[in-house]
Amino acid sequence: MPNTISDNPPKIGNQRHLFDMPDDIAYLNCAYMGPLMTSAVQAAEKGVQYKVQPWTYGGSSFFTYTEQLRELAAKLINTNSDNMALVPSASYGIQVAANNLPLSKGGEILVLRDQFPSHVYPWREKAKACGGNIVTVERPGNGDWTAAVLQAVSSRTEILALPATHWADGGYLDLEIIGKAARGIGAKLVLDLTQSLGALPFNVKTVQPDFMVAAGYKWLLGPYTLGYLYVAPQWQDGAPLEHNWMNRKGSEDFARLVDYQDQFQTGARRFDMGEKSNPAQVMAAFAALSQIMDWGVDNISATLGARNSRVADHARQLGFLVVDDKFRSPHYISLAYKDGVPGGLAEKLAADNVFVSVRGNSVRVTPHLYNTDTDIERLFDALDKG
Ligand SMILES: Cc1ncc(COP(=O)(O)O)c(C=O)c1O
Repeated sequence: MPNTISDNPPKIGNQRHLFDMPDDIAYLNCAYMGPLMTSAVQAAEKGVQYKVQPWTYGGSSFFTYTEQLRELAAKLINTNSDNMALVPSASYGIQVAANNLPLSKGGEILVLRDQFPSHVYPWREKAKACGGNIVTVERPGNGDWTAAVLQAVSSRTEILALPATHWADGGYLDLEIIGKAARGIGAKLVLDLTQSLGALPFNVKTVQPDFMVAAGYKWLLGPYTLGYLYVAPQWQDGAPLEHNWMNRKGSEDFARLVDYQDQFQTGARRFDMGEKSNPAQVMAAFAALSQIMDWGVDNISATLGARNSRVADHARQLGFLVVDDKFRSPHYISLAYKDGVPGGLAEKLAADNVFVSVRGNSVRVTPHLYNTDTDIERLFDALDKG
């Protein structure tokens, strides 16, 4: 007898037709890697053509496409392009933040228990270099990470290095509240939104982080090795990780590149990675971001949230432990086993064409708009077989 999930009309109808996803695949692992939709693949192919026929790719193209992408990424978080840099990874952006933020001897950097390593290693190195300390906020028993972070903040806290969504189980952090608390004690806020940007609304103006980075290959449905770094205006005089030619003033004029410049391009552009202008990658990312903006992040979040609430209710009935909906990011769901995940579960599910991740004691289920009720029914059927 298959598990059936009752359906309510979602905000956005099913979008599987925009992806190359066979009917017999239940891909419930966007937190692992978001699939490229067909429009992004077509854009990438157009970009590849420039490399096939480089004479069609004029010098100005090195800047035009990246500027269009920068603008769209800025719009997504309600800021302007001057505050955005294009980076290859979350760790790159976090390293920019770590290199440029001050930390006193004995100063504290707050991270979460089991936070993603890209947002831990740079801070460990920073603490080591400055004689500071890492303070790890323990996983709260009731699931309320926001309260746990507020409680861990002290007069010694100088940097809060946090996500909006805990990557392992979707635990939710209210960044507006946390941002306000950080500003209240003069601490800096550095965000890794890789597991939420594109699926959970985020507004730079209300949260006011110092730095925010998101890798683009998960919920932003973009290609690998392209992410977005927001740098607040007060940090835009900082040192980039690389001193590449394109980030210097006047680099658009290829004839004068060896009139070496001490000045940078404006705003956060100085933090751009080298060779950012890979047309295939940039154009695919632009197509993906355009579609996300067309759907609207609020609508994506509401649609995924409605589906996941139904999944959560059903999972609880089956005896799984699921974080209370009010402490869970709507786009994420994590089904915890009381006695540990059965050995080889992810592989067994994959053999049934059901794709999820196992993190710790939980099965992490992260659907997107391409998922159907049938996918969810197949998940529960496969879990049943375990
Ligand atoms: C929260 C989080 N941040 C960052 C990343 C990726 O890090 P990077 O871009 O440094 O490879 C992941 C990948 O799973 C993640 O879950």
